[in-house]
Amino acid sequence: MRRITLKGNSIVSEEIQETEPAGLRAEALAKDELTIRGVSKSFGHVQVLHQVSLSITRGEYATLLGPSGCGKTTLLRIIAGLEIADAGRVLLLGQDITDVPANKRSVNTVFQNYALFPHLRVADNIAFGLRARKFVQAEIDRRMAAAVEMLELGDFLARWPDQLSGGQKQRVALARALVNEPEVLLLDEPMSALDARLRAEVQIDLRRLQKALNKTFIHVTHDQDEAMTVSDRIFVMNRGAIEQSGTPEEIYEHPATRFVAQFLGAANVLEARSGEGLVVDTALGVLTVTQMPAWDKGAVAIRPERVLLRATKPATNAARGVVTETIYRGDHVDVYVRVGTLNLRVRTHPSAETAPGKHVYVGLPPEHLEVLRD
Ligand SMILES: Nc1ncnc2c1ncn2[C@@H]1O[C@H](COP(=O)(O)OP(=O)(O)O)[C@@H](O)[C@H]1O
Ligand SMILES: [Mg+2]
Repeated sequence: MRRITLKGNSIVSEEIQETEPAGLRAEALAKDELTIRGVSKSFGHVQVLHQVSLSITRGEYATLLGPSGCGKTTLLRIIAGLEIADAGRVLLLGQDITDVPANKRSVNTVFQNYALFPHLRVADNIAFGLRARKFVQAEIDRRMAAAVEMLELGDFLARWPDQLSGGQKQRVALARALVNEPEVLLLDEPMSALDARLRAEVQIDLRRLQKALNKTFIHVTHDQDEAMTVSDRIFVMNRGAIEQSGTPEEIYEHPATRFVAQFLGAANVLEARSGEGLVVDTALGVLTVTQMPAWDKGAVAIRPERVLLRATKPATNAARGVVTETIYRGDHVDVYVRVGTLNLRVRTHPSAETAPGKHVYVGLPPEHLEVLRD
């Protein structure tokens, strides 16, 4: 067998021992914690998942991000074994677990409402799964102690669930899942029962916990800020399919589709026709781009904070417009600029140019003008 590698700037092709590929293969499989291949699911006549494929690396904090009803929970339940896919496979550490029942999968779920047992004290809630699996007491004690310390639950062990705050309930739910030492932890909208301030805190705690445990987390949310805060990688879902995946920065800076551009951070999307070379024709005129569009008719996008707002004409991709509205937001100002029939959103700092009625120039730097796939 030949192995082809890149060494410095040259491609090296070398003959390798037959014993080596097996080792390499095992390593590659071990890095792929969870793989979904072509999973489809319908409820009655409604198809909610359309051939979803994705691969999550071991130790990764992955997020499924999408609007309500796009199929996130259904996909998570298929991973957990709580729902059966109509087609497709689920692999855990390279092993096909599609037909393995939920309680035999090394996967635990923290549900949206935490689903704590109201008639059990915190300690018994946490130990419940371990007792059900008939672990010896010493092992139960060891795992409980580790989870209780990690989640700072020592003071609450004798309480009933209804004596806990939302944040404490969530920590109990996490402890109850983590004592099972699952390969993968699934979290379905884990912040939805918390108020906004606590949510921001818990997001950072969750991320720290995941990094400390070095476990694979798959987190479902419809909240883009939450996804950006916790994730190593975001899978953006829309209508039962994954539109784009990447690090928070990749997805934010380089949205691939109209949906992603507008769902994350509300970009300006301009209808466009491709011109000769690296230009597109839009309502703002002919604009220079840095990627060749794969379409004749499509769209380009730019983030509000990337649009230049100037009293004098910017050198490239400039247009003249009038400020229609300014919204003060403390650390920045959202300015709406009407250019022809378009209303561009620009995020900037307060200045003389930003008063309604002012005539201004906008500039769309080519390096920040994303050519969308569709
Ligand atoms: N058990 C079910 N029976 C019928 N329809 C369902 C069932 N579960 C989910 N759905 C439908 O499937 C779609 C996706 O739901 P879900 O996966 O819960 O979305 P999300 O978690 O992204 O909000 C929705 O239209 C929902 O109404
Ligand atoms: Mg859901």
